[in-house]
Amino acid sequence: MDKPAIEEALLKRTGNLIASRIGFLVLEQDEPLLRKIVAERVRALNLSGAEEYGQWLDSDEDLRHEREELAVLLTTGETYFFRDSGQYALLQDRILPELLERRKALHTLYIWCAACSSGEEAYSLAILLDELMADQSQWNIQVLGTDINHQAIEKARQGIYTEWSFRNMSAERRQRYFHRRKNTWVLDEAIRDRVRFRLGDLVADEFPTASDLHDQDLILCRNTFIYMARPVVSRIADKFTETLAEGGILITGHGELYAHHLGKLRSRVFPEAIVYQKVSEPFFLPAAVPTVVPTAAPPTEIPPALLDSHAAVDQPAAAEIHDTTAVPEMQRAWRYANQGQPDRAANICGDMVAAHPLVAEPHYLLALLAQERGDFAEAKDLLKKVIYLDPSLIAAYLDLGDLYAREGYPARAGKMRATARDLLKTLPGDEQVKLYGASTVNTVMQYVEHLLSAHV
Ligand SMILES: C[S@@+](CC[C@H](N)C(=O)[O-])C[C@H]1O[C@@H](n2cnc3c(N)ncnc32)[C@H](O)[C@@H]1O
Repeated sequence: MDKPAIEEALLKRTGNLIASRIGFLVLEQDEPLLRKIVAERVRALNLSGAEEYGQWLDSDEDLRHEREELAVLLTTGETYFFRDSGQYALLQDRILPELLERRKALHTLYIWCAACSSGEEAYSLAILLDELMADQSQWNIQVLGTDINHQAIEKARQGIYTEWSFRNMSAERRQRYFHRRKNTWVLDEAIRDRVRFRLGDLVADEFPTASDLHDQDLILCRNTFIYMARPVVSRIADKFTETLAEGGILITGHGELYAHHLGKLRSRVFPEAIVYQKVSEPFFLPAAVPTVVPTAAPPTEIPPALLDSHAAVDQPAAAEIHDTTAVPEMQRAWRYANQGQPDRAANICGDMVAAHPLVAEPHYLLALLAQERGDFAEAKDLLKKVIYLDPSLIAAYLDLGDLYAREGYPARAGKMRATARDLLKTLPGDEQVKLYGASTVNTVMQYVEHLLSAHV
């Protein structure tokens, strides 16, 4: 005889336990699915009903296996090569070159695809690296893919895929890295051997580990947090942060860390995506406190034209003033920003602006904070002020260019980037670009050239 339908309150309690003990979020609209899944698990575990299933979830039992079962039932496992063209373009043109440049002395690169499903994501990265590097023989490059689903990991290890996995990969690339076997495509051994796969549970596992999960340069965890309860996402993001090397990058699916406390992660906004960089200490501050004397009568206020978001940016003659007496204050503000305390950072910047209205840096940090909370109009106005106050600040042109590109104004974006390129040309290639992460002039130049030629 069929078991009676699970009572509403009991179903809700079970859903809450699945969120708190397993980590998966069950939305109210998914109630019919939850009902089905609980019934299925009760049957599979040979339990008396939802009540006993709940008690079992709430016990000290190791729930790893149950998490895997529920992952199969509650998440799709959907993945394909080069999923999300924008993020891969960013990886190819900016993130990977930057990481390779940073690691060129050590010749090591550690990459982790967390929740990689059947491996397409990890192999896409290995393919990108193959295209970017003429010779990897002098490098120790580790690409690791993990997932809770053992069948997915088994498939990943085989490296054999059907048409469906290639829906976002060019035929030319496929031809270069795969060969046909009946109605499947087999990945070339050379690439397959560069990626290692193993089981891993992001919720239950501790990481960093002494073995293979530490000092990662890049962690990809995309399209997985959407299935998880908010506190669980925060805990995993904290573990990722600890597993990243200083300056390492975390990439999630779009918006998956929106409004989360970012701790040591600093968001970097690109036209294609937001990525998160581990910055324990601000690394973009001037090494020494320069003493600067105004070279001409400084402007007394920001021209109203600059407050109009559509106004062109005219640079002031030669009237920049950089009052650096307050640099320690700025260090504190950057530190708060990097620690995920935007309000405290903004307060300090506000005080700095009131005391020294013609210093560019506090305006610049305020612009980044505005971008981070999604207030792009405010960010644009602030960046225009920054450029007015310090026409040599390359970072501001690049950020403003990104914002214009995001809004669909390629000509304006191009103008900003062309100015950034002109300024970059005046600097030594290995110098760091001021206030622009750890990037050197050479890497940023490459990136800007790409943006200009691709009109993105
Ligand atoms: C939609 S797929 C994402 C695949 C790939 N990252 C992508 O974006 O194309 C989600 C994956 O998360 C995995 N997953 C869910 N919970 C997990 C956990 N606690 N630990 C590890 N992987 C998990 C699932 O097994 C599934 O393969």
